[in-house]
Amino acid sequence: MISVVLLALLAAQTPEQFFERKVAPILTKRCLPCHNRELNNAGLSFQDTATLRRVVVPGKPDESRLTETLRHEGQVQMPPGPPLPKKEIEVLREWVRRGAVFGTPLK
Ligand code: HEC
Repeated sequence: MISVVLLALLAAQTPEQFFERKVAPILTKRCLPCHNRELNNAGLSFQDTATLRRVVVPGKPDESRLTETLRHEGQVQMPPGPPLPKKEIEVLREWVRRGAVFGTPLK
């Protein structure tokens, strides 16, 4: 039953919609406070899709700097402090796995 609901959810959205509905809210809440045009920590503004592209390898979450930092195992751990809830990490990994397609840029 649950998997049927999940499948329906996945099928009902384009990659752009997946970005806008699932990924953008996480990045906006968890990362944008530091990685925006003004603060630009580590040269990363997630409002600028070009810099986001620098830290993702489309299709390969395990090779992507973005998802690597979420695991909180290496030197650079993002976000600083407690790691994201597993569900949110999984959404970001799933987004990279599906090719890291962007919708409307973050505001
Ligand atoms: C409290 C501020 C803050 C938040 C919130 C934050 N970052 Fe960062 N981020 C930084 C700083 C400062 C650096 C550079 C310092 C460092 O390398 O440790 C950085 C560096 C990075 C890097 C570059 C690592 C490298 O070595 O190239 C990535 C990728 C990154 N952040 C991703 C994220 C993601 C994804 C989120 C949200 C889940 C996030 N950050 C949330 C402050 C933040």
